[in-house]
Amino acid sequence: MSPMKIVTNPAEMKNLSITFQRAGKTVGLVPTMGALHQGHVSLIKTAQRHCDIVVTSIFVNPIQFGPAEDFSKYPRPFESDCSAAEQSGCDVVFAPAQDDMYPSDHATYVHVENITSALCGAARPGHFTGVATVVLKLFNIVSPQAAVFGQKDAQQCLVIRRMARDLNCSVKLLFAPTVREEDGLAMSSRNSYLSAQERRDAPLLYAGLSSAVDLYESGERSAARLREAIEAACRRATQFSVEYVEIVDMNTVSPLATVRSPALAAVAVRTNLTKTRLIDNVVLGGTF
Ligand code: PAJ
Repeated sequence: MSPMKIVTNPAEMKNLSITFQRAGKTVGLVPTMGALHQGHVSLIKTAQRHCDIVVTSIFVNPIQFGPAEDFSKYPRPFESDCSAAEQSGCDVVFAPAQDDMYPSDHATYVHVENITSALCGAARPGHFTGVATVVLKLFNIVSPQAAVFGQKDAQQCLVIRRMARDLNCSVKLLFAPTVREEDGLAMSSRNSYLSAQERRDAPLLYAGLSSAVDLYESGERSAARLREAIEAACRRATQFSVEYVEIVDMNTVSPLATVRSPALAAVAVRTNLTKTRLIDNVVLGGTF
């Protein structure tokens, strides 16, 4: 096996990908912002199962962060990320510079309508335009046969799926399950911001979602009662306030009164001390 390559230049990445594909190899892309954890590793392994070559992009995408968000403090442990990627079986890390991705006269954005207005889109205006734009750019640079995204960011999966369909992207999308800590907390690069007390409360998100799954499986279809189960778990937390608890249709991302499967149960909170935003979700009665 040849050593992992690190490529920073988009034109070089494009040529490398073309070279692989001319040699009959399929390329899988795993877009990330780095600070890699076991969730990212599972995406790399999924890409490896489906493709000959795995490209992991590491790029903290400035245009998906709001002005008051954590762009500048977002962790960037590049060297340990490269060794984690290599150990997971990644063949190429693509880590472009900000100026190469967004020259000062960059003027084109991908805006996915409607399904971006609820949930995280409501709290983070412009966020999904930033995500869709960078993901389309990565698709165009890497031309992957497959790209892997984590269900942890459920609305992101739905937005990318819609963009890929609407803009005729020829890439197979794979959505990998959420990887969790032993106590249920969904792994996230942002968990490192949490104070010790916030970290103790954080598993309550998944505890609430799991109670909603239990209720759903015992026949409950009222979204209000399913939401209440999640809210009840969140009320036990002293370290965060709820931003939203929603049960939405998987296609329209609009709130449901009665769950006709599959539906997405999603929660977002903001912690009180470190102001960390935590999100989590489960699919009721189906999969992505
Ligand atoms: P980032 O937060 O680094 O996540 C990269 C990918 O890892 C996403 O597809 C995300 O859903 C997935 N992921 C994160 N935590 C996970 C977990 N606990 N289990 C499984 N998968 C997990 O999401 C982004 O970056 C960016 O928005 C990006 C798509 C790279 C565009 O900039």
